[in-house]
Amino acid sequence: MFTNLVLFTLLTLPSTATIPITPKNTSGIAGEWNLLHDNLGISPMHMQLLHNDKIVMFDRTDFGPSNVTLPFNRCRYDPFDPVIQKDCTAHSILYDLQTDTYRPLSIQTDTWCSSGAVLSDGTMVQTGGFNDGDHTVRTMDPCDDETCDWVEYHGYLSERRWYSTDQILPDGRIIIIGGRQQSNYEFYPSSSPDYFIPSLNTSSFWLDFLRGGTVNEAITENNLYPFVHLLPDGNLFIFANIRSVVFDYKQNHVVKRLPPIPGDDPRNYPSSGSSVLLPLDENGPIDPEVIICGGAPRDGSRVRSFARAIPTCGRIKVTSEDPNWEIETMPIARTMGDMVILPNGEVIIINGAGSGTAGWGNARDPVTRPVIYHPDGPPNTRFSVMQSTSRPRLYNSVAILVTDGRVLVAGSNPNPFYNFTNVEFPSELSLEAFLPPYLAKEYDPLRPEILSIDVEVIEYRKPLMLMFTVLKFLKLSRVTVRIIAPSFTTHSLGMNQRMVVLKEDKNVSIVGDLFMKTYSIGVFGPSTAEIAPPGYYLLYLVHAGIPSTGLWVKVE
Ligand SMILES: *[C@@H]1O[C@H](CO)[C@@H](O)[C@H](O)[C@H]1NC(C)=O
Ligand SMILES: *[C@@H]1O[C@H](CO)[C@@H](O)[C@H](O)[C@H]1NC(C)=O
Ligand SMILES: *[C@@H]1O[C@H](CO)[C@@H](O)[C@H](O)[C@H]1NC(C)=O
Ligand SMILES: *[C@@H]1O[C@H](CO)[C@@H](O)[C@H](O)[C@H]1NC(C)=O
Ligand SMILES: *[C@@H]1O[C@H](CO)[C@@H](O)[C@H](O)[C@H]1NC(C)=O
Repeated sequence: MFTNLVLFTLLTLPSTATIPITPKNTSGIAGEWNLLHDNLGISPMHMQLLHNDKIVMFDRTDFGPSNVTLPFNRCRYDPFDPVIQKDCTAHSILYDLQTDTYRPLSIQTDTWCSSGAVLSDGTMVQTGGFNDGDHTVRTMDPCDDETCDWVEYHGYLSERRWYSTDQILPDGRIIIIGGRQQSNYEFYPSSSPDYFIPSLNTSSFWLDFLRGGTVNEAITENNLYPFVHLLPDGNLFIFANIRSVVFDYKQNHVVKRLPPIPGDDPRNYPSSGSSVLLPLDENGPIDPEVIICGGAPRDGSRVRSFARAIPTCGRIKVTSEDPNWEIETMPIARTMGDMVILPNGEVIIINGAGSGTAGWGNARDPVTRPVIYHPDGPPNTRFSVMQSTSRPRLYNSVAILVTDGRVLVAGSNPNPFYNFTNVEFPSELSLEAFLPPYLAKEYDPLRPEILSIDVEVIEYRKPLMLMFTVLKFLKLSRVTVRIIAPSFTTHSLGMNQRMVVLKEDKNVSIVGDLFMKTYSIGVFGPSTAEIAPPGYYLLYLVHAGIPSTGLWVKVE
């Protein structure tokens, strides 16, 4: 009946990123913590969100018996396991976000300090581990019933992969880089590397950069879990110790060496800083930036020296002509923090310790307050300190973003086995959620809700339209549509984590029906598979710095 009253207005929006996306007054809001489960049965040190809102979590098979029994009288037998030769408990669970329940999954070989990624069809792939699991690849197909479980391919990997890093590639394969005493990389699936690599004929390829031994390269220590980010030009950013390179894995060629991060303090494992590729914004020339925060000082990497953690972050424009590290100081020094990209493009730094380093009993002074980094804010105003939790999350803790914008936090076990008695920091079995300030009730009027999307899949460069509603539309704020690839997180590193801000379709702009409070926005699919490799992403619509809940989309 109101159709003749409907008022279609073409709202002119500022074209680029100049409007701050954070609400100005966040003084009274420092986020909120919720305890979701006191006892998950395991102490997750690896986590991955799947596109059906289930989370794969696992620890390791040589922790001793967990608190969850394997179904169907299953057991794992390993006569060579130094800790437990027969174990009828689970070390992996599948957690359902919608029902807040979980069930055990079966792993037969050791997943300790392993790596993972999700293929473009949504299949989770986990690579390597320790002992009997160091050459194993395990896959998990998402399912909505109780049938899916790990499938293991023993001896698949050509090298031992313990502490290696996985990155999904534009062609849909996974590159598996490094690991303890492995200055090389290989692919999953391994069968099809049709790249021409002169003078190499093997399924694993040298990466001298990781070999170290010379001052100019990453040295053998602190070359584990290298920070790897896929760049928009198709090359890889690889960081180990204090050095980083832009690497062409197709030609096995270092394209560029970046200056060492200032301070001579190593940043990746075991020093255990964290790193993300900052959001790639398609509404302008893409200038990829990497940020690395925290870690333990070089002489603090020694066992039980409890040196104060590194208080700085280094940020670099990787492909600029003369790249340089911009150093910023965090409000709280931190090692073993997790950096998670939030739906509004900010980055949370959560978990970790104020002194010490990775390893058993090696850290103290748990940092229980997360900090949020605002990448677009003016220098010296980019950090906000959040509420504290009561639970320490030290070595082997994890954090991931979930669909509704919460950050889930689990794990922490700085002991060689599950240990709840006579230790300073008992094994942590609980699952907590941190609610960033944008989830506060007072922002509800600004919170957009996605009503519909007009495509089944998001195709590269193709236009798409989203309908959304919001109670209080702020005409001058920027509305953006962003996609996030969920990370495989372990040891302070969110592998494959990336955000792309989709290009706005200026011809559509925002068409709003102010009366019905419904609006539509047009954007384009990502430009290339190098910017966003094919697969499942969480799509968020962000209005005035406040994100909608995430919508699962497939990019292909
Ligand atoms: C900012 O928020 C705090 C707490 O909600 C409130 O006390 C204060 O008045 C607000 N300031 C402004 C300028 O709105
Ligand atoms: C798990 O822990 C609870 C509480 O301590 C205990 O009652 C239960 O028997 C444990 N289950 C297993 C399988 O260890
Ligand atoms: C590469 O290795 C395969 C299998 O070992 C062999 O058949 C082939 O001839 C080799 N190719 C070159 C160019 O050396
Ligand atoms: C827990 O740690 C304490 C202190 O190191 C040790 O005495 C005890 O044996 C450990 N318990 C288990 C179950 O490993
Ligand atoms: C946008 O509008 C202009 C002018 O009408 C037209 O030339 C252009 O092709 C349009 N672009 C798209 C993507 O529809």
